[in-house]
Amino acid sequence: MQMKMVKKSMKITAHRGVSSLAPENTLAAFEQAALLGLDWIEIDVQLSQDKVPVVIHDRTVNRCTNGRGRVADMSVQALKALDAGLWFGDAYEGESIPTLAETLLLAQKHDLTVNVELKHYEGDDIDLLCQQVKLVMTELGIAKEQVLFSSFSTQALTVMQRIMPTIRRGQLWQQIPDNALAILDELDAYSVHCDFHFLDERTARWIKSAGYQLYCYTPNHPLLVESFWEWGVDMMISDVPQDYQSQSTASKPQEFVDA
Ligand code: G3P
Ligand code: MG
Repeated sequence: MQMKMVKKSMKITAHRGVSSLAPENTLAAFEQAALLGLDWIEIDVQLSQDKVPVVIHDRTVNRCTNGRGRVADMSVQALKALDAGLWFGDAYEGESIPTLAETLLLAQKHDLTVNVELKHYEGDDIDLLCQQVKLVMTELGIAKEQVLFSSFSTQALTVMQRIMPTIRRGQLWQQIPDNALAILDELDAYSVHCDFHFLDERTARWIKSAGYQLYCYTPNHPLLVESFWEWGVDMMISDVPQDYQSQSTASKPQEFVDA
C-alpha cells in the first residue's frame, strides 16, 4: 500500500466538536478539540423556549439526550437538566447541552475559533436568534476574529450582516448553486461551506477564483478528499480531525486501499 504524507498546511474544523471522540456539541467535545491542538470548532446554535442560544444540532433533544421534545419548547433550565453525554458513552454521563455563552467562554480559554452555525428549523424566528446571539457575544466581549457565522439560511446571514457586520459570514450549501456568486456578493460573504460529496474541481476553482474561502463538510476519510486540497479547498469540517493529523494513510477505508 502506498503511504502518503498529509500536508502540514491543511486546516481542519472539529465538526460539532470532535464528535467522533466525545458527544457532539458538548463542552467535552470542544475540550477534545483543544486537546488535539486544533484551531477551529463548528457548533450548531438555536434558541431555547426562553430565548437563550443553546448548542444542539437537532430540532429535538431525542437523539442526543435522555429527554424528549423540541428544543424550542423547552426552557434553558429544562434543557440543562438533560444528560447529553450518556447516549455516547458512560464516561460522558453528566455532560449537558451547552449554552452559546459557555461554549464561547471555553473557546476564549483555549483560543479556539468558532464556526457558529445558525440553525433554522420551520417556525423558528431567525431575527430573534440573530439578536440573541449578538447579545451573548456582546456581553462576553468576543473578539470578531474568534467567530465565523454560517447558515443554510441566507436570511439569517443577511440579518447578521446588518447587526454584526464585522463578523465573517459563510453560506452553507449542500450543492453550490449556479447563482452562488450573486448571493455571496450580496452577503459580502467570507466563505462557502459545501457538502464534499457534491463538490467538483471546476466548481472549487470557480469559487476560489472569485476570492472566497472554501470549506467542505463532512469528509470523514482524509483520502476521500485528498485531491480537494489541490483544487484550493481551504478547510475540511470533519468528525474525525484526528485522522487528518496522522502522518499516514492508516485511516484509509478498505474500499479505497490501493491495490
Ligand atoms: O457546518 C457544516 C455542517 O455542520 C452543516 O450540516 O447538519 O451537520 O449542521 P449539519
Ligand atoms: Mg452544523
